Amino acid sequence: MSIIVKITDDGSKTLFLPEMNETYHSIFGAKTESEHVFIKAGYKLFAQQKLNILEIGMGTGLNVFLTYLHHNNDNKEIYFETLEKYPLNEHLYKELNYAITDENKLIFSQIHTSNWNEIIYLNKSFLLHKKQIDLLDFSSENKFDLVYFDAFDPAKQPELWTEKVFQNIYNHMNTDGILVTYSAKGIVRRAMQSVGFKVERIPGPPGKREMIRASKS
Ligand SMILES: C[S@@+](CC[C@H](N)C(=O)[O-])C[C@H]1O[C@@H](n2cnc3c(N)ncnc32)[C@H](O)[C@@H]1O
Repeated sequence: MSIIVKITDDGSKTLFLPEMNETYHSIFGAKTESEHVFIKAGYKLFAQQKLNILEIGMGTGLNVFLTYLHHNNDNKEIYFETLEKYPLNEHLYKELNYAITDENKLIFSQIHTSNWNEIIYLNKSFLLHKKQIDLLDFSSENKFDLVYFDAFDPAKQPELWTEKVFQNIYNHMNTDGILVTYSAKGIVRRAMQSVGFKVERIPGPPGKREMIRASKS
């Protein structure tokens, strides 16, 4: 599949899949969207020191990278498991412009060059476990406090936004765990509610009126 690099409205880059007519992030701002949906509406809600995070769709690595930067400021201990069925080629992640300083460029590069299916330390308190698997085959020995659900749009990948998938994720979450996603579609909310999530619609990032925050209470 061909993939094209695009610049979004906040100056950060994203990827576009012509065959699917789908971008990896909002064209109104890739970084702005990730900061809003996953960091501000998810990560920032946790006061606890240790956090297990699960991401669906590692893609460009932007969510891993932003979480790493925030953890550097708040000193949380992070275990970050991220699933990806189609890892990016080197020529694509090298074109992304999320890291500015040399130190952060090194971290961003490590996020991509580290081995799949191994746990590595990005620093002494950030463990990264990249799993090259299909979400439909997901299982883990871990339980998660926070889930970043960042699959392609439900209209493009309906098989990933089903009750069965959300049930599996729910079973892998700790009580009081939170799942955040950019979509607020009715079909997604109902699938989540049917497996036991308490679902809230909250304001979305630029270009999106609402997003979902679901909790396991
Ligand atoms: C919205 S994009 C990625 C967003 C990513 N978090 C980022 O910041 O770049 C969705 C991602 O899910 C991945 N994906 C698609 N189908 C998948 C599947 N069945 N299992 C796991 N990952 C999948 C895609 O390859 C893509 O990287």
